[in-house]
Amino acid sequence: MKHVWIVADSHFTSMDFPEVRDFYQARDERLKDGQSNAVQNWHDNFLRFLKRVKNERPDRVVDLGDCINNGTSGELEYYREVVNKTDVPFLHVPGNHDVGEGPDPDRIRQYEKCFGEPHWAFDLEAFRLIGVNTSCLWKSSDELIRRELDWLIKAVTDARDKPIMVFMHVPLFRKHADEENSFHVIDKPLRHEIIEILSAASAVHVYAGHTHYFEEPEHTTLAMTIVPGTLSHYRDWRPGFLKVKLHDDIKHEIEWL
Ligand SMILES: [Fe+2]
Repeated sequence: MKHVWIVADSHFTSMDFPEVRDFYQARDERLKDGQSNAVQNWHDNFLRFLKRVKNERPDRVVDLGDCINNGTSGELEYYREVVNKTDVPFLHVPGNHDVGEGPDPDRIRQYEKCFGEPHWAFDLEAFRLIGVNTSCLWKSSDELIRRELDWLIKAVTDARDKPIMVFMHVPLFRKHADEENSFHVIDKPLRHEIIEILSAASAVHVYAGHTHYFEEPEHTTLAMTIVPGTLSHYRDWRPGFLKVKLHDDIKHEIEWL
């Protein structure tokens, strides 16, 4: 049995970074919603989560993106520094707060320098785990989208008859595959192309983040879970993450901190 923990939208940052402090103090002046106080909670929640990781030692942690908030190299380095202390392997897929909205070569380079390739595939127990770069599929050039789709087709084909677990930041959809395009999902008709590619596998479970809500959309060929971004909520949400057990099948449950 292998244990994979999944966390999404941690938005890890610190008010000790001058640019973050300036940003939230200006925002508070404008909106008067006290979000600068929340930033400290996001920071502390993520460190509490890492404490659990260090003590309970899952086999892998998958971070579904928006691991940092303001997208600076200082935040990335700080994130890496605290994560490395757990001595547990972390896997990442990029979120819009990590690499920006749309292709931004400097931020993509900064991300890849820190985490390596923005997509990956490997086996764990009887499963093939595949991380997809949906930040590219969400808003990018036709050429980059085609390249990511070709990579995904190969990753799914290489899995042969293994069940696959697919990890992405932006979900394919939230309720049903034909819902309207929005900021929160991959646009049609690309969405349907990705669904078709994934449906070629023997069994699929897709995990996504980005919406910050726990959602389980229904589909005839894909099982899908949207992992809540509960480490970074600033109202009265309980911070938590998803624990997955891999053996003959996939079992998962939300664990609250
Ligand atoms: Fe996001």
